[in-house]
This record gives sequence, structure tokens and C-alpha cells, in this order.
Amino acid sequence: MRYFFLIYALIIVFVVSTFGFRGDKFKKPPIRIFPDMDEQDFVKAQKPSDFFKSGVAAQQPVPGTVPMGHSKEVTAESELRGYGNKETYLHTGRLNEINYGKGFPAELELDQPENVTALLTRGHEVFGFKCAICHGASGNGEGTVKANGFVAAISNLRETKLVEGNIYDVVVNGRGNMGQMGSDLPLYDRWAVVAYVKAIQASAKADYTNPKIKEIFDAGSKK
Ligand code: HEC
Repeated sequence: MRYFFLIYALIIVFVVSTFGFRGDKFKKPPIRIFPDMDEQDFVKAQKPSDFFKSGVAAQQPVPGTVPMGHSKEVTAESELRGYGNKETYLHTGRLNEINYGKGFPAELELDQPENVTALLTRGHEVFGFKCAICHGASGNGEGTVKANGFVAAISNLRETKLVEGNIYDVVVNGRGNMGQMGSDLPLYDRWAVVAYVKAIQASAKADYTNPKIKEIFDAGSKK
């Protein structure tokens, strides 16, 4: 035990004489066991640099950079690509506190056929990565999670009677055993998946004995 205290005291003397007391000032650079980020590569703004092609250390900000304290200009396009929380039909799917709306918001400009195609194409993608795992690729409620023992009933979207605004609300805020997805999907993607659910329903009701419809179906299923 005597030796223990002796060695202990010697270790303290050694450590203090090597590293000094906390807050001591040294002339030589300090010994750093963990260097943290005290020293790192950096460039001085006005100095030349051979790292960048332009030979200048200071670089232009990335295009579209918004200076701190300034807000980004909101366009119709950027509103659709954002998350938004206004009280309009586009944002809530509701006409008022009680009623959900039928149909799609005017901002999507679905009177242009190419906008319809773009919305459905995106809806197909979103459904694939966000909904099919539970509702099944065809929307019949027989997705992968059910095959793996998820016991709660999953709605068959081919038969749902909900209007567009209500489907939108279920996607954004969730319902029962379905979680909310509003924080994952920008406005455009939410409406896109609503449009796709409507398309699933239309296709479930389509009369495939009609040669015209069968032709479209066959052309689509070859893709
Ligand atoms: C984690 C599994 C899961 C995912 C993912 C999921 N859902 Fe659901 N969904 C459910 C369940 C479970 C219900 C039944 C909820 C209840 O009423 O308890 C449901 C209900 C619904 C309903 C209501 C149907 C009705 O007639 O009442 C809609 C609409 C719906 N889901 C659409 C979607 C869409 C669109 C997506 C993708 C953006 C999606 N769901 C993703 C599990 C899921």
C-alpha cells in the first residue's frame, strides 16, 4: 500500500510537470491528445488558391442562395414544391371547418392535359414508395406489411368513397393506424398521390370488355 501512494504521487508530479495546471500559459504549442478541430485547412478570402480552378480562394455563393434575414420569393411553382400551412383548399383539402372538398385545387392547372399526365406520373411514384407497402401496389390493402403479419385492417383504396380533399387530409394527418405523412410530402406530391388513388379507383371500375379501354390497358401494361 505504501508503494501505491508513492507511485500515485509520482504519477501526479509527472502529469502536472508535463501538462501543467489547467489555465497555465505556455510559449510552446500545447500537447493535444484529441486535436478536435482546433486546426484545420482553410482559405483566406482574398488570397489566391490553387485548389479551385479559378485560382481564387473566395467562391461565389451557390446560385439561389438566400442571404440570412431575407426571405425567398414565393412563386406558384415554389409554393407547390413546399409544405405550406395556409388555410386554402390547396393546403388543407377543406372547404371550411366541416367539409372536405371534391376535386383538385385550381393551382395545379389540371385544365392542361400535360399537367394531368405529370401529376399522375408523380402520383404513381409516390404511391410506390409511400403507400404500396401497406395498401398494396394495386391499392387493394394487401401490401407487404400484411403478408408479414400486420394485423390491423388496411383500407382497400379501390373502394374508398372519400372525396379528394378527404383523401388529402388522411395522407397529411393520418388516420387510425395510418401515420401522418404531411411532413414527408410537399403539396404537389400529396395531391399527386390523391390523383393516383382516384386513378386506381377509375381503373378498378373500368370496363375491360370495351375494346378501346382494353387497348389502352394493354399498351400501359407493356411498359
Ligand atoms: C403503415 C401502413 C400504411 C401506409 C404506409 C399508408 N397507409 Fe393508408 N391506411 C393504413 C391503414 C391501417 C388505414 C386504415 C385506418 C383506419 O381507419 O384505422 C389506412 C387508411 C387510408 C385511407 C382511408 C380509406 C377509407 O376509405 O377510409 C386512405 C385514403 C389512405 N389510407 C391512403 C393512403 C395513401 C395515399 C398512402 C400513401 C401516401 C397511405 N395511405 C399509406 C395504412 C397505411
